[in-house]
Amino acid sequence: MAQFNSGDVLSLCKRRGFLYPSYEIYGGLAGFYDYGPLGVTMKQNIIDLWRSIYVLEEGFIEIDSDIVGPEMVFKASGHAENFQDLMVTCKLCGEGFRADHLAQDFHPNPGALSKAELQALIQSENITCPLCKGDLSDIEEFNLMFKTKIGPGSGRIGYLRPETAQGIFVNYPNLYRYAREQLPFGVIQVGRAYRNEISPRQGVIRLREFNQMEAELFVDPADKSWKRFAAVKDEKVKLVPNSDEKEIETTFGVAVEQGIIAHETIAYFLWVTQRFLRRAGVDPTRMRFRQHLKTEMAHYAADCWDAEALLSFGWTEIVGVADRGCWDLSRHTQYSGAELMAFKRFDEPKEVERDAFKPKYGLLGPEFKAKSAKVGKALEGLEVSSLKDGKVEVDVDGERFVLTDKYFDVVRIKEKVNGIKVVPHVIEPSHGLDRILYTCLEHAYSTDGEYTRLGLSHESAPIKVGVFPLMARDDLDNKAMDLDRKLRESGIVTYYDESGSIGRRYARMDEVGTPFCLTVDYEVFENGTVTIRERDSSHQVRIPFEKVVDVMKALLDGKSFDGIA
Ligand code: ATP
Ligand code: GLY
Repeated sequence: MAQFNSGDVLSLCKRRGFLYPSYEIYGGLAGFYDYGPLGVTMKQNIIDLWRSIYVLEEGFIEIDSDIVGPEMVFKASGHAENFQDLMVTCKLCGEGFRADHLAQDFHPNPGALSKAELQALIQSENITCPLCKGDLSDIEEFNLMFKTKIGPGSGRIGYLRPETAQGIFVNYPNLYRYAREQLPFGVIQVGRAYRNEISPRQGVIRLREFNQMEAELFVDPADKSWKRFAAVKDEKVKLVPNSDEKEIETTFGVAVEQGIIAHETIAYFLWVTQRFLRRAGVDPTRMRFRQHLKTEMAHYAADCWDAEALLSFGWTEIVGVADRGCWDLSRHTQYSGAELMAFKRFDEPKEVERDAFKPKYGLLGPEFKAKSAKVGKALEGLEVSSLKDGKVEVDVDGERFVLTDKYFDVVRIKEKVNGIKVVPHVIEPSHGLDRILYTCLEHAYSTDGEYTRLGLSHESAPIKVGVFPLMARDDLDNKAMDLDRKLRESGIVTYYDESGSIGRRYARMDEVGTPFCLTVDYEVFENGTVTIRERDSSHQVRIPFEKVVDVMKALLDGKSFDGIA
């Protein structure tokens, strides 16, 4: 096999209709790519596979929320303040760069360095502009969100979402109700996200407009065990823990037992991620999970594991699986005032102790007269946490009264309760669809310099079957077209081709990753059979024309090719 690089893969992507750099007739725009006809189908196949796992197998529900959000949402989420990369600008040519990218040759993980550490590294290593060798500015923070204005005139400030996740968090009350007010429950969303990346590069790996498939699982903070974990605990996994940053191979079960992975829920969803990526076509020998260093973690994360794929650019994050703790729901509660909690019902009522307001009815009576009983009752129902600067506000029949602490005591009481309210924690597998799709393409790519083959998985391949008549005459073409229609009617995507030699037609299909080809030759009139060819082995077998649809379905479902002969 000949060596290749990402340029070869991207050139095939463009030539054969997977990916096109956007706005090319206007000179292009860095960080934007369009999907061509085969790319769209492949992307949809990956989404379908992912949905079938999360919605059908794991029981998640799905939403589709807005891309534009008001400023307050992103103040609450922390993105307005914290979602920034460290940037340097060339003093000579004016180009901006991510500081950690420029430091890559001088540190094993520059993304984990602080601003001051990166600044010191750039200075000590004399790092200059990679384009013109000019001197670099001091490091600045650059917020990655695209800002916009909602409505005319002065309008309201809005942002394009930098992750789909926030749309799920702000819908929490609706989703919790839909999930019949029980934990755990999971929600997915597939859609566009936007980041004004400082130096977009590497094809679709770093885009300014990209596609995410995100899952947010709301769990009881006191119970991060996972029932189905037992069934997968003996599966193998490659991990790079943040303790010593060395790759180890172990099982999910051992990793949890030894505290390498913090709990079963994260471990289970790492397994789900691994299984999904393998089925999509990521090469298992070129993938691993790397745990973020504490200094590298996003502002919302308590723990995070990246699924990384080995690409021609080196190890690259394609999925992030994070424990976001109670960050998002607590912050949205703080900023919106909405209560974003779950009620945890006990098996039996429990006696608990808590602080409570004890109204001084002797003083409330003269002050509030006929309403004093209602004021006292309202006070008893309030949480002590609502006490601010010795005062508390109560609502009685729509009227608000401010009570100073002369009207109540705070006392410790015992009571029987059926449950408690908790702020759920969130476990988030966040998938970059474009990066996954590209990884499948690069891992499937092989060439001897002349003949190029894409060994895409059956599930991702945009075309499942090439259908060819040996000759475009003698009724062979009609027979082949008939077969083609039957396959399409049964939901199998085909490509009918009658031009050029059969070898050339096989080559065209191999180059776009089509797993099977069917050739209709003269034997169809003699014994009613056609030929199936398997892409990866180039083996061919004859099968009855009438059985083609069933055989193709079985093969695409994973039946072995040798088994159909
Ligand atoms: P990186 O460190 O490479 O910038 P990130 O840590 O910012 O990535 P996350 O914020 O965890 O990435 O985003 C979740 C997923 O979204 C990533 O695993 C990745 O696959 C995808 N993603 C993030 N940024 C981009 C981008 N600019 N272009 C394409 N995909 C992206
Ligand atoms: N939702 C994770 C991320 O996009 O950062």
